[in-house]
Amino acid sequence: MDSQRTTLKDPTPRSNTANDRPLLDVRDLEIRFSNQKDTIPAVHRLSYQLEHGRTLGVVGESGCGKTITALAILGLLDPPGKISGGEIWFEGQELSSLTQNELAKIRGARIAMVFQEPMTALNPVYTIGDQISEVVVVHQNLSQSAARSRAIELLDLVCVPAPSKRVHDYPHQLSGGLRQRAMIAMALAGEPTLLIADEPTTALDVTVQSQILELFLEIQSQFKMAIQFISHDLGVISEIADEVLVLYGGRAVERASATALFDNPRHPYTKGLLATVPRLGGYRRRLPTIPGQIPNVNNLPSGCPFHDRCSIAEPECAEQEPTFDQVETGHWVACPKVQS
Ligand SMILES: Nc1ncnc2c1ncn2[C@@H]1O[C@H](COP(=O)(O)OP(=O)(O)OP(=O)(O)O)[C@@H](O)[C@H]1O
Ligand code: SF4
Ligand SMILES: [Mg+2]
Repeated sequence: MDSQRTTLKDPTPRSNTANDRPLLDVRDLEIRFSNQKDTIPAVHRLSYQLEHGRTLGVVGESGCGKTITALAILGLLDPPGKISGGEIWFEGQELSSLTQNELAKIRGARIAMVFQEPMTALNPVYTIGDQISEVVVVHQNLSQSAARSRAIELLDLVCVPAPSKRVHDYPHQLSGGLRQRAMIAMALAGEPTLLIADEPTTALDVTVQSQILELFLEIQSQFKMAIQFISHDLGVISEIADEVLVLYGGRAVERASATALFDNPRHPYTKGLLATVPRLGGYRRRLPTIPGQIPNVNNLPSGCPFHDRCSIAEPECAEQEPTFDQVETGHWVACPKVQS
């Protein structure tokens, strides 16, 4: 990226507050979807932390709870989904107990989200400049003209070419990659301490994907914000994350530093996922998939939810749900067979 480009006002890491607590501390989170007939326990006893300025990769197959966990943090879970237990601590506040008005003040300012499909967040009837300026006016308390200049700076920061012209474009006038950059600029406009990115590169072609990943790395080094980066692809996670959380059927099955997870994965599911990642620099071969069906959280097997797909399962695995235990400093696994 061009070193002459716009930089951010405050490139220094933000120090921890509230007795050095992590920026985000999710404790025993439960999310349910209920109707007259059923209650679906979509997320169960999920705990993890994210420190200031770090990137947590959240990975797992479709339906494992990546998006609803992010929406729960932002207070954007649509009924019938709801948080039915646990706590979400962010900057010393417990988010699940806040009113919608209180959460709205945090959204966009302290926590921002980037979605897979930019049109989810961008309004087709306003120019991207108007939309970015609006976030700046609301959260940074600047005048309209200062906010417009900041919108141009932000578009420049995310490498949108000719930002002072592009600021007048409507979302449909931009390519998919530029729309994603505009959404990232909008997310950065409130100068959040936590950015949640939900599959931000999945809908893009491979070249644009790697440019956007590069942009996230650049943003990370300039903003020093924490990023919760959601992907179903461990290859993408390996490029961006400091730490990794692996979800299976709405449960955490492994959590570790990226180095420990990629060099020494413990859980059989993580090992299976890693076997599906092409080797860097190697020729593309037909990759194995994890045998068996992706789990349905409405109908999980008893005991360990992975036991019907696990190559080392034993009969007792179907009896008792494993606890999520720390096996070495910073490395947690939900499988008693690999915990020692
Ligand atoms: N509107 C809904 N009604 C009922 N259940 C839902 C609803 N939305 C999500 N769920 C349940 O929550 C689970 C987790 O959904 P979520 O969207 O978080 O998955 P995900 O990990 O983001 O998957 P993907 O990789 O496909 O985006 C789903 O498997 C589903 O059982
Ligand atoms: S508890 Fe049993 S089934 Fe589950 S991952 Fe461990 S060995 Fe496999
Ligand atoms: Mg999702």
